[in-house]
Amino acid sequence: MTATRISPPTPQAIAEAAEMLRRGHIVALPTETVYGLGADARSDDAIARIYAAKGRPATNPLIVHVADTAAARRYVAVFPPAAQTLADAFWPGPLTLILPRAKSLSPRLSAGLATVAIRCPAHPVALDLLRTFDGPIAAPSANRSGFTSPTTAQHVYAELNARVPLILDGGPCAVGVESTVLDLTTATPAILRHGAITSAMLAPLIGPVLAPTPSVRPDTPAPSPGMLDRHYAPATPAFRFAKPQWPAAQNWIAQQPKVVLLTTDPALTPPPPHEAIVLPADAAACARVLYASLREADTREGSSLLVLMPDTSDGLWAAIADRLRRATVPLPPA
Ligand code: TXA
Ligand code: MG
Repeated sequence: MTATRISPPTPQAIAEAAEMLRRGHIVALPTETVYGLGADARSDDAIARIYAAKGRPATNPLIVHVADTAAARRYVAVFPPAAQTLADAFWPGPLTLILPRAKSLSPRLSAGLATVAIRCPAHPVALDLLRTFDGPIAAPSANRSGFTSPTTAQHVYAELNARVPLILDGGPCAVGVESTVLDLTTATPAILRHGAITSAMLAPLIGPVLAPTPSVRPDTPAPSPGMLDRHYAPATPAFRFAKPQWPAAQNWIAQQPKVVLLTTDPALTPPPPHEAIVLPADAAACARVLYASLREADTREGSSLLVLMPDTSDGLWAAIADRLRRATVPLPPA
């Protein structure tokens, strides 16, 4: 494939992107969460191109993006009252619903499942493209499988140069972590992936929601079903610890050539030659810069990265802790 072009989202570029989608090609687009790698969700060949460009295992299904609730209804077999309630409350927005799929979608995008993941994104460029294309766009995060998700057009370029012809540049993503994935096909709705729409926001509208609260203990595995354990990974070996382990972490740091520490607590910083990247203590602000900070940490030429885990899983911290857990392994015992 020829080199990748980054384009501002002019009406011309949107029309061109829609035409590429119609011809079965892939296009990278901004959403409010992270950048996506889009293709026509009805075309098996187009979906195959997404999996090839990402190097994604065929067993991991994709999310279908639609322009509105009416379009969502066309691509599911059932749209239950709870889905309508949640769509009214949170769409366009970072909430993905798992529902029984419609036959018109490519079987390949659901990895053989009878269900589909569907959401309406809250980004003007994504919505513009969806309306111009006038069809469903399947889009996983626009990164190589297993690595850090992109929150700028430049991140997409770094991941997928020469693997995608066109990136629509919609600026930095406002949310910064992927959408909440909510399964509505089970007796009790269940969160499969934490995001900006939290169980505390969902429960008042639809009743109890199962939400695997990620333990803040750094040594326990991630609990969410259907998710890869190792994910969002930086290139540098990355470790995690919880605040009570700081003394042990300091001993460990002292034995390393150069550690880059990511920390929400500016009081916990290592001496030179080690470095610290201080993350915002506010959850929304932290989520927004999380992936860019992991990428920045990778450029500091550390021998390893070390991440202080959040000491709460309230609200958006659950999503942040989940991503950090998958991006790291526990600090080796002393
Ligand atoms: O915010 C987001 O959701 C971004 C933007 C681009 O919209 N997209 C994204 O897609 O994060 P991706 O492919 O990286 O993550 C999709 C997640 C995966 O964890 C996948 O396992 C889950 O959704 N998923 C997709 N279809 C599913 C299904 N039918 N049942 C259960 N989980 C499903
Ligand atoms: Mg992803």
